[in-house]
Amino acid sequence: MRVVAFHGSPRAEGNTELLLKETLRAIGESAHDIQLFTLNLMNIRPCQDCGGCEKTGVCVIDDDMGDIYDAIRKAERFILASPIFFFGLSAQAKAMVDRCQAFWCEKYLLKKAIPQGPHERKGLLLLVGGMKREIGIQCSEATAAAFFRTISVPEHRTLGFLGVDAKGAVLEHPTALRDACQAGKDLVAVS
Ligand SMILES: Cc1cc2nc3c(=O)[nH]c(=O)nc-3n(C[C@H](O)[C@H](O)[C@H](O)COP(=O)(O)O)c2cc1C
Repeated sequence: MRVVAFHGSPRAEGNTELLLKETLRAIGESAHDIQLFTLNLMNIRPCQDCGGCEKTGVCVIDDDMGDIYDAIRKAERFILASPIFFFGLSAQAKAMVDRCQAFWCEKYLLKKAIPQGPHERKGLLLLVGGMKREIGIQCSEATAAAFFRTISVPEHRTLGFLGVDAKGAVLEHPTALRDACQAGKDLVAVS
Protein backbone atom coordinates (compact mmCIF):
# COMPACT_ATOMS: atom_id res chain seq x y z
CA MET A 1 0.00 0.00 0.00
CA ARG A 2 1.32 3.44 -0.85
CA VAL A 3 1.54 5.92 2.01
CA VAL A 4 2.33 9.58 1.58
CA ALA A 5 3.31 11.73 4.57
CA PHE A 6 3.66 15.49 4.78
CA HIS A 7 5.90 16.93 7.47
CA GLY A 8 4.75 20.50 8.02
CA SER A 9 7.09 21.80 10.72
CA PRO A 10 10.11 23.99 10.01
CA ARG A 11 11.79 22.63 13.16
CA ALA A 12 13.97 19.61 12.32
CA GLU A 13 13.72 16.89 14.96
CA GLY A 14 10.96 18.85 16.65
CA ASN A 15 7.76 17.49 18.13
CA THR A 16 5.90 17.03 14.85
CA GLU A 17 8.80 15.14 13.30
CA LEU A 18 9.25 12.91 16.35
CA LEU A 19 5.57 11.98 16.28
CA LEU A 20 5.51 11.48 12.53
CA LYS A 21 8.64 9.31 12.59
CA GLU A 22 7.01 7.10 15.23
CA THR A 23 3.92 6.72 13.05
CA LEU A 24 6.04 5.92 9.98
CA ARG A 25 8.20 3.47 11.93
CA ALA A 26 5.05 1.52 12.88
CA ILE A 27 3.82 1.59 9.29
CA GLY A 28 7.24 0.49 8.00
CA GLU A 29 7.10 -2.62 10.15
CA SER A 30 4.42 -4.03 7.85
CA ALA A 31 6.31 -3.11 4.65
CA HIS A 32 4.56 -0.33 2.81
CA ASP A 33 5.79 2.06 0.18
CA ILE A 34 6.25 5.30 2.16
CA GLN A 35 6.94 8.67 0.56
CA LEU A 36 7.80 11.45 3.01
CA PHE A 37 7.73 15.11 1.98
CA THR A 38 9.50 17.55 4.29
CA LEU A 39 7.64 20.63 3.14
CA ASN A 40 10.02 23.15 4.69
CA LEU A 41 12.82 21.90 2.44
CA MET A 42 10.75 22.10 -0.72
CA ASN A 43 10.11 24.87 -3.18
CA ILE A 44 6.33 25.27 -2.98
CA ARG A 45 5.03 28.63 -4.08
CA PRO A 46 1.73 29.75 -2.52
CA CYS A 47 -1.37 29.53 -4.74
CA GLN A 48 -1.66 32.66 -6.89
CA ASP A 49 -5.43 32.32 -7.48
CA CYS A 50 -4.72 32.81 -11.19
CA GLY A 51 -7.57 30.52 -12.26
CA GLY A 52 -5.14 28.52 -14.39
CA CYS A 53 -6.38 25.20 -13.00
CA GLU A 54 -10.08 25.91 -13.49
CA LYS A 55 -10.38 24.54 -17.03
CA THR A 56 -7.77 21.78 -16.80
CA GLY A 57 -7.37 20.78 -13.13
CA VAL A 58 -3.64 21.31 -13.62
CA CYS A 59 -1.66 23.97 -11.76
CA VAL A 60 0.37 26.27 -14.01
CA ILE A 61 3.17 26.75 -11.46
CA ASP A 62 6.21 24.57 -12.14
CA ASP A 63 7.82 23.77 -8.78
CA ASP A 64 8.16 20.90 -6.29
CA MET A 65 4.36 20.48 -6.04
CA GLY A 66 4.66 18.39 -9.21
CA ASP A 67 6.00 15.47 -7.18
CA ILE A 68 3.28 15.94 -4.57
CA TYR A 69 0.46 15.98 -7.16
CA ASP A 70 1.76 12.64 -8.50
CA ALA A 71 2.08 11.14 -5.02
CA ILE A 72 -1.44 12.23 -4.04
CA ARG A 73 -2.90 10.56 -7.12
CA LYS A 74 -1.09 7.27 -6.51
CA ALA A 75 -1.25 6.84 -2.71
CA GLU A 76 -4.03 5.32 -0.64
CA ARG A 77 -3.04 6.45 2.85
CA PHE A 78 -2.17 10.04 3.76
CA ILE A 79 -0.60 11.65 6.79
CA LEU A 80 -0.60 15.39 7.32
CA ALA A 81 1.58 16.35 10.31
CA SER A 82 1.81 19.95 11.43
CA PRO A 83 2.55 22.07 14.46
CA ILE A 84 -0.24 24.48 15.40
CA PHE A 85 0.83 27.99 14.46
CA PHE A 86 -1.52 30.90 15.27
CA PHE A 87 -4.37 28.42 15.85
CA GLY A 88 -3.97 26.77 12.45
CA LEU A 89 -1.69 24.68 10.26
CA SER A 90 1.88 25.87 9.66
CA ALA A 91 2.52 28.02 6.59
CA GLN A 92 4.45 25.13 5.04
CA ALA A 93 1.46 22.80 5.37
CA LYS A 94 -1.03 25.46 4.33
CA ALA A 95 0.88 26.35 1.16
CA MET A 96 0.78 22.70 0.07
CA VAL A 97 -2.92 22.44 0.96
CA ASP A 98 -3.81 25.61 -0.97
CA ARG A 99 -2.03 24.30 -4.07
CA CYS A 100 -4.47 21.37 -3.98
CA GLN A 101 -6.98 23.86 -5.41
CA ALA A 102 -6.02 22.15 -8.68
CA PHE A 103 -7.60 18.92 -7.34
CA TRP A 104 -10.61 20.94 -6.13
CA CYS A 105 -11.16 22.20 -9.70
CA GLU A 106 -10.70 18.73 -11.13
CA LYS A 107 -13.19 17.26 -8.66
CA TYR A 108 -15.87 19.93 -8.39
CA LEU A 109 -15.66 21.89 -11.68
CA LEU A 110 -14.54 19.16 -14.06
CA LYS A 111 -16.39 16.41 -12.13
CA LYS A 112 -13.38 14.07 -12.22
CA ALA A 113 -12.50 12.95 -8.69
CA ILE A 114 -9.25 11.00 -8.22
CA PRO A 115 -10.22 7.35 -8.85
CA GLN A 116 -10.05 4.90 -5.93
CA GLY A 117 -7.34 2.21 -6.13
CA PRO A 118 -7.66 -1.32 -4.73
CA HIS A 119 -7.70 0.07 -1.16
CA GLU A 120 -9.86 2.89 0.17
CA ARG A 121 -8.19 6.24 0.66
CA LYS A 122 -7.77 7.13 4.34
CA GLY A 123 -6.04 9.93 6.21
CA LEU A 124 -4.40 10.80 9.49
CA LEU A 125 -3.91 14.31 10.84
CA LEU A 126 -1.15 14.72 13.45
CA LEU A 127 -1.07 18.01 15.36
CA VAL A 128 1.14 19.41 18.11
CA GLY A 129 0.47 22.68 19.92
CA GLY A 130 2.35 24.45 22.68
CA MET A 131 -0.75 25.98 24.23
CA LYS A 132 -3.61 24.18 25.93
CA ARG A 133 -6.21 25.78 23.68
CA GLU A 134 -8.50 23.41 21.73
CA ILE A 135 -9.20 26.10 19.16
CA GLY A 136 -5.83 25.33 17.57
CA ILE A 137 -6.96 21.78 16.92
CA GLN A 138 -10.42 22.88 15.77
CA CYS A 139 -9.12 25.41 13.22
CA SER A 140 -6.45 23.02 11.89
CA GLU A 141 -9.02 20.25 11.72
CA ALA A 142 -11.36 22.38 9.59
CA THR A 143 -8.60 23.09 7.06
CA ALA A 144 -7.35 19.51 7.04
CA ALA A 145 -10.88 18.13 6.56
CA ALA A 146 -11.28 20.33 3.49
CA PHE A 147 -7.88 19.15 2.24
CA PHE A 148 -8.71 15.47 2.67
CA ARG A 149 -12.14 15.91 1.04
CA THR A 150 -10.55 17.70 -1.91
CA ILE A 151 -8.03 14.92 -2.55
CA SER A 152 -10.80 12.31 -2.28
CA VAL A 153 -9.92 10.97 1.15
CA PRO A 154 -13.38 10.55 2.68
CA GLU A 155 -12.24 9.32 6.08
CA HIS A 156 -9.53 10.57 8.41
CA ARG A 157 -8.58 10.41 12.04
CA THR A 158 -7.06 13.25 14.05
CA LEU A 159 -4.48 12.99 16.83
CA GLY A 160 -3.70 16.28 18.53
CA PHE A 161 -1.38 16.93 21.48
CA LEU A 162 -1.57 20.21 23.35
CA GLY A 163 0.78 21.74 25.91
CA VAL A 164 3.78 20.37 23.98
CA ASP A 165 6.04 23.32 23.28
CA ALA A 166 9.81 22.95 23.73
CA LYS A 167 11.75 21.03 21.11
CA GLY A 168 11.50 17.35 21.99
CA ALA A 169 8.89 17.87 24.73
CA VAL A 170 6.63 15.32 23.06
CA LEU A 171 9.04 12.63 24.29
CA GLU A 172 7.86 13.40 27.83
CA HIS A 173 4.17 13.18 26.94
CA PRO A 174 2.63 10.16 28.71
CA THR A 175 0.94 8.65 25.62
CA ALA A 176 1.85 10.60 22.47
CA LEU A 177 4.45 8.27 20.98
CA ARG A 178 2.42 5.19 21.77
CA ASP A 179 -0.70 6.81 20.29
CA ALA A 180 1.22 7.83 17.16
CA CYS A 181 2.55 4.29 16.76
CA GLN A 182 -0.94 2.79 17.10
CA ALA A 183 -2.40 5.36 14.70
CA GLY A 184 0.18 4.29 12.11
CA LYS A 185 -0.76 0.64 12.48
CA ASP A 186 -4.47 1.46 12.31
CA LEU A 187 -3.96 3.60 9.21
CA VAL A 188 -2.60 0.76 7.12
CA ALA A 189 -4.75 -2.00 8.58
CA VAL A 190 -7.05 -3.46 5.94
CA SER A 191 -10.56 -4.11 7.25
C1 LIG B 1 4.95 30.96 14.85
C2 LIG B 1 4.43 30.09 15.97
C3 LIG B 1 3.09 30.15 16.29
C4 LIG B 1 2.57 29.31 17.27
N1 LIG B 1 1.24 29.35 17.53
C5 LIG B 1 0.68 28.45 18.39
C6 LIG B 1 -0.73 28.40 18.60
O1 LIG B 1 -1.50 29.19 18.05
N2 LIG B 1 -1.23 27.45 19.41
C7 LIG B 1 -0.43 26.54 20.05
O2 LIG B 1 -0.95 25.66 20.75
N3 LIG B 1 0.93 26.58 19.89
C8 LIG B 1 1.50 27.49 19.06
N4 LIG B 1 2.86 27.50 18.85
C9 LIG B 1 3.71 26.51 19.54
C10 LIG B 1 4.01 25.27 18.68
O3 LIG B 1 2.82 24.68 18.19
C11 LIG B 1 4.78 24.25 19.52
O4 LIG B 1 6.01 24.78 19.93
C12 LIG B 1 5.00 22.93 18.81
O5 LIG B 1 5.50 21.98 19.72
C13 LIG B 1 5.99 23.07 17.65
O6 LIG B 1 6.15 21.83 17.01
P1 LIG B 1 7.54 21.44 16.26
O7 LIG B 1 8.54 21.17 17.34
O8 LIG B 1 7.21 20.26 15.46
O9 LIG B 1 7.86 22.61 15.40
C14 LIG B 1 3.41 28.39 17.93
C15 LIG B 1 4.80 28.37 17.62
C16 LIG B 1 5.29 29.20 16.65
C17 LIG B 1 6.77 29.14 16.30
